[in-house]
Amino acid sequence: MKDRPPREEGHSPEGAGESLLAQLDPQRLPRHIAVIMDGNGRWARERGLPRVAGHRAGIASVRETLESSARLGVEVLTLYAFSTENWKRPAAEVNTLMGLLREFIDKELQKIHEQGVSFRCIGRVEDLPSNVVKRLRHAEELTSANSGMVFQVALSYSGRSEIAEAVRKIANEVAAGTLEPGAIDEEAISSRLY
Ligand code: FPP
Repeated sequence: MKDRPPREEGHSPEGAGESLLAQLDPQRLPRHIAVIMDGNGRWARERGLPRVAGHRAGIASVRETLESSARLGVEVLTLYAFSTENWKRPAAEVNTLMGLLREFIDKELQKIHEQGVSFRCIGRVEDLPSNVVKRLRHAEELTSANSGMVFQVALSYSGRSEIAEAVRKIANEVAAGTLEPGAIDEEAISSRLY
């Protein structure tokens, strides 16, 4: 960070992006970038704005991150957007977030598709309202053959439920006789995670 040049006044965001881009070594870029969405509420509070304004600003950052990552040739961008813990938030906030997610798909899907990005969801997606699940599944289907960056959004995710799901899959396969207990190693577990 200390080597980063001071931000030049009067530059458009694109301009600043281009000059940063020129400083990046493509050989040293990560293949997979994962982002945990956080701080939307704090961002809004610091500006005396309602939380929803923070969530909207968070989505604007998602758009920028998506664009830049695709342009840089990142292979996978994973966005941890809504955890199982987040269901405990007030119903009005959860509803707003679901509405913003719907709006995001409705507005961005065509562009994502045209950029050759492949959209995927991970997590217990079926926990979400059916009108959101429908859009998410449609987005996955529409973009499934795209060969560009994979854009994964984790929804109703939790580390523990991911492990529980993998263990359930393994138990079912052992019961069905398609997996030997002796073959349960790190790779067997890892390949059954999201
Ligand atoms: C973290 O901020 C943000 C969330 C828990 C929700 C983010 C999800 C959306 C905006 C839904 C749409 C998602 C996509 C991918 C378009 P916070 O409220 O925890 O902020 P705080 O830590 O400052 O309280």
